[in-house]
Amino acid sequence: MFNDAPYASNAGDQTFSPPSDSILWRKDFLLGTATASYQIEGAIHADGRIPSIWDTFSATPGKVLAGDTGEFACDHYNRWQEDVELLKSLNVDGYRLSIAWPRVMHADGTPNQKGIDFYVNLADALRAKGIKVYATLYHWDLPQYLEDRGGWLNRDTAYRFAEYADVISRALKGKVDAWMTLNEPWCSAFLGYANGHHAPGLATLRYAPTAMHHLLLGHGLAVAVLRTNDPDAGVGIVANVGRGTADSDSAADQRAAHLFEVQHNAWVLGPLLNKAYPKDLWELWPGCEPLVLEGDLEIIGAKLDFLGINYYFRTNVKSDGAHGFVEAPPANVERTQMGWEVYPQGLQDLLIGFHKTYPNLPPIYITENGMASDDEVVNGEVVDNQRISFLNRHLAALDNAAKAGVDIRGYFIWSLMDNFEWAFGYERRFGIVHVDYTTQKRTPKRSALQIAQFLADRKARS
Ligand code: NOJ
Repeated sequence: MFNDAPYASNAGDQTFSPPSDSILWRKDFLLGTATASYQIEGAIHADGRIPSIWDTFSATPGKVLAGDTGEFACDHYNRWQEDVELLKSLNVDGYRLSIAWPRVMHADGTPNQKGIDFYVNLADALRAKGIKVYATLYHWDLPQYLEDRGGWLNRDTAYRFAEYADVISRALKGKVDAWMTLNEPWCSAFLGYANGHHAPGLATLRYAPTAMHHLLLGHGLAVAVLRTNDPDAGVGIVANVGRGTADSDSAADQRAAHLFEVQHNAWVLGPLLNKAYPKDLWELWPGCEPLVLEGDLEIIGAKLDFLGINYYFRTNVKSDGAHGFVEAPPANVERTQMGWEVYPQGLQDLLIGFHKTYPNLPPIYITENGMASDDEVVNGEVVDNQRISFLNRHLAALDNAAKAGVDIRGYFIWSLMDNFEWAFGYERRFGIVHVDYTTQKRTPKRSALQIAQFLADRKARS
């Protein structure tokens, strides 16, 4: 039903309007926004920050659209107080941010107090305004000196990650509501090491499972550290998940869709929730198994307080005639500025599927969902009707999953503000707040104003 919707940006004025029985009206359901350090902070040379793989990658000609880099981004490092006020004005319950490893640790492995202070001050200011703090430790900005030693292909990086987790969780003890170890390890491993679209830009398929294994090992080691250092905070991880649908009823196409989901979802969720990599993955990628040492999967499968899910679109696939799948993009469907199909049904299908597949599925937060559109300020306003419609439809899908029994605790819109969209630079605008990159002026879009109003109405009901 959803993918036949008209192109919503042409569908007239939209209103953010959760129905009266929506999970969103529950006062304990968290509605917030999300960002990540490299995408918003800028100030890459400030206070002893060391270079990251994204500084190197974005400075390499041809890697990022229009040659954009994170050098200035939204200048959040200097404007964080204004941005906390902005969050407060939107009435959000929580804010998902990420901590930049290259600000927190010097290259010799000692802590950088100035960088740590930035996050301590930010967390304190958010909590003083009643905004819950959800902190991700790794949103892709690996220190470059670690990449020079092999990055996530080097098992040692997992142990360096646990050291960094130790330093920052001691400093932020009691100031964070929940920790997330990694953001989207699939993207770090596959886009970073198998197809080269992301930093560090390596493109050798068999590297990806090794990188993934070391990422997940780092996650597991960090879970133990976080629990010791900050026992009152929740601990989780964020996985991007993909809905793969089959182009036909043929057994080969059905198998292709299954393999798509194995590669996108079970590759990450299997070791985390079942302490095992899915066997089908090695049918898709023969000979690519990583070296797994005794005890690794016990560490990786450490109990989670919650699972963060990032969902954006579906991928329709068919058999490649051999053991894999190829994309079969449907025609005449609604798409976003990224070219991604708007497919809310996928969110509910995946959540209900995980609920059935993983008996020990922890409570879920949607840690990212949202869309890019080509937004402009006209007469002081940004009218982003497609985004409002997008959010309404995905939240309806979330309600359906909740009604089917999935334990969903919160929803973070990606993103608080327009920012550096990785290989697509600044052209793609995901924010509910518009950023003018020349003046750094923030202008809440219509979606943001409506969400703020909804949250005020919800509060007034108490
Ligand atoms: C997922 C990533 O976590 C985030 O950094 C990115 O901007 C969004 N997807 C949109 O592509």
